[in-house]
Amino acid sequence: MKDAAGKHERHAPVLARPIVLIGLMGAGKSSVGLKLADLLGTGFVDSDDEIEKAANLSVAEIFERFGEAHFRIGERRVLARLLAGPPMVIATGGGAFMDVETRALVRKQAVSVWMRAELDVLVQRTAGRGHRPLLNKGSPREILARLIDQRYPIYAEADITVDSRADQSKELMAMRIRDALLKDGRAFEDTQ
Ligand code: S3P
Repeated sequence: MKDAAGKHERHAPVLARPIVLIGLMGAGKSSVGLKLADLLGTGFVDSDDEIEKAANLSVAEIFERFGEAHFRIGERRVLARLLAGPPMVIATGGGAFMDVETRALVRKQAVSVWMRAELDVLVQRTAGRGHRPLLNKGSPREILARLIDQRYPIYAEADITVDSRADQSKELMAMRIRDALLKDGRAFEDTQ
């Protein structure tokens, strides 16, 4: 694991359980997840990337050709595989934790971190990017507001919640998550 100065600490805690990042589109799960994995000296995987690799299609193409229900089946399967693999940081798509089976698996095998962000932050961070099919069907602000209402009560079941703020760098956010994980302790092997 790296300390705040970027140096590797000598006695890095060993990851015992996967760390699953959850949150809405634009919360920063993938970009912060990569930094977090670097800080912890562990691997990183993005579940959307894995779905795309398995289907050899982009997420938008899967939605367009086969529909959202088909995407969700693939998403559930990919997450089950990732959760059974070596512990690492897993960034999920915003809908993944809404699935009952995935949620139960995450609860059993991983430590979940909800990157909670306000509507304005999400609108700002998703603007001008066309790769998210759910946001291409109307006003992104209205869609994201509706998803906040639907999903935040479920995301609140995560083990740890960290606020994702507009004025905060990815690096700082990753450090705050790392600190919250260390305080919580469940993600790491007990080496005492
Ligand atoms: C979705 C979020 C997307 C992607 C798909 C559906 C959702 O991932 O999985 O477009 O239901 O919120 P990101 O949250 O990484 O954008």
